[in-house]
Amino acid sequence: MSKTIIISNRLPIKVQRKEEGLAYETSEGGLATGLGSIYKEGDNVWIGWPGLFFEDEAEEQEVTLSLKSQSMHPVFLTESEIKEFYEGFSNETLWPSFHYFSQYTVYDDVYWEAYQHVNRKFCQAVMQVAQPGDTIWVHDYQLLLLPAYLREAFPDSSIGFFQHIPFPSFEVFRMLPWREQLLKGILGADLIGFHTYDDVRHFLSSVSRIIGMNTAQGMIDNGYRQIMVDAFPMGIDYEKYAQLAASPEMKEKLIPYNEALSGQKVILSIDRLDYSKGIPARLQAFELLLQEYPEFREKVTLFMLVVPSRDQVEKYKQLKETIDELVGRINSSYRTISWNPIQYFYRSFPIEELSALYTVADIALITPMRDGMNLVCKEFVASKLDQKGVLILSEMAGAAKELSDALIINPNDLGQMVQAMREAMTMPEAEQQIRMQHMQDILKRYDIHQWVSIFMNRLEYIKLKQLSLATE
Ligand code: G6P
Repeated sequence: MSKTIIISNRLPIKVQRKEEGLAYETSEGGLATGLGSIYKEGDNVWIGWPGLFFEDEAEEQEVTLSLKSQSMHPVFLTESEIKEFYEGFSNETLWPSFHYFSQYTVYDDVYWEAYQHVNRKFCQAVMQVAQPGDTIWVHDYQLLLLPAYLREAFPDSSIGFFQHIPFPSFEVFRMLPWREQLLKGILGADLIGFHTYDDVRHFLSSVSRIIGMNTAQGMIDNGYRQIMVDAFPMGIDYEKYAQLAASPEMKEKLIPYNEALSGQKVILSIDRLDYSKGIPARLQAFELLLQEYPEFREKVTLFMLVVPSRDQVEKYKQLKETIDELVGRINSSYRTISWNPIQYFYRSFPIEELSALYTVADIALITPMRDGMNLVCKEFVASKLDQKGVLILSEMAGAAKELSDALIINPNDLGQMVQAMREAMTMPEAEQQIRMQHMQDILKRYDIHQWVSIFMNRLEYIKLKQLSLATE
């Protein structure tokens, strides 16, 4: 029977080394949370890195067996691969560049060598499990060369590629010395997906200007195959979040939050630690709100969760310090005996706890400088069973294209963010409900299952089209 092979750098489960031994936890980030609920179907398998360096083969074997029983196949990375491929090329070269932080981009040939090598390594891992007729679905910026490597190994297979982060404008992308090889890598796929039409447009423009291929109507002809490029805005597992919020355990979970935050308007902020998320500007806007509108002091709490991420990368270390300092400054300037303006947590929270926070929050303040999609805002909306609550959302997040009933802001405009917080805190309930209803209708319809099935159907369609063109 044919199966679908999902490949991403990070598996949806990450292995942690604890005193008691190895522990298996859910991975962070949109990709893992988004696809986490579907890969276990049938004979499907997920290939990826379990997120740790293992010192001996015995440990690797233990991990392989345990993951195998959960439909996962690990790719182990050495210490230097973690440094040069993962922290290096993926997160110091591609990540900043694709999020328009070009001033942070590191151009290093050693990183590039490692990137090619690890993409080859992933290709070999796929070759161990793939059978003719399987569908192969490659995910995200860490594996841009893999579709082409797979195409060499499996000339006739259906290969899909989806990028979860933005694709930058040609003017930014062209700065990468390896731009041509990267594009040719992606073009090994039959179907190439992005979250938004802007990403599609930017990608097509790079393909046409850098490698001179014809890209009319989102179709690329590379001389051998027709390749389709399209936007597939990723949804969430809507039912899962709605059900969690409605679960009988939720009432109990809410008690400590309600006690600690009683009489407060709660503004919720949840992100991985990342400069693309705009956390310092968000804090500055909150500080401005307290400064300019003293009537909100002691009446509003910013509940801010920052999930540790990539903490070996220099820019992330610096960001952590900036956030710590800002939170310290704001809290020490405005706090009173009975009120702390910012409740700041630097750790990951289990999904049940997140669901409680979504339920308790009056406002979600999601203000990335740049974000491929952003699923947190969608989870917030899905959790609002009584439809009371306001979403403030950056226009730089892919999700803003779908969620136009949010209060849309520019994250560089602190004044606008302050006014959005004021508007959210005073918005009549009836208006909150109308906006929430519209957003829920959209997210319910285009949930994660729908997203997967639309992508897969389109992949099947383009394969059939290629066949019919070949026999014409
Ligand atoms: C984003 C990326 C994912 C990545 C996740 C977590 O959502 O699109 O590819 O896995 O961040 O980052 P990490 O570096 O921890 O895998």
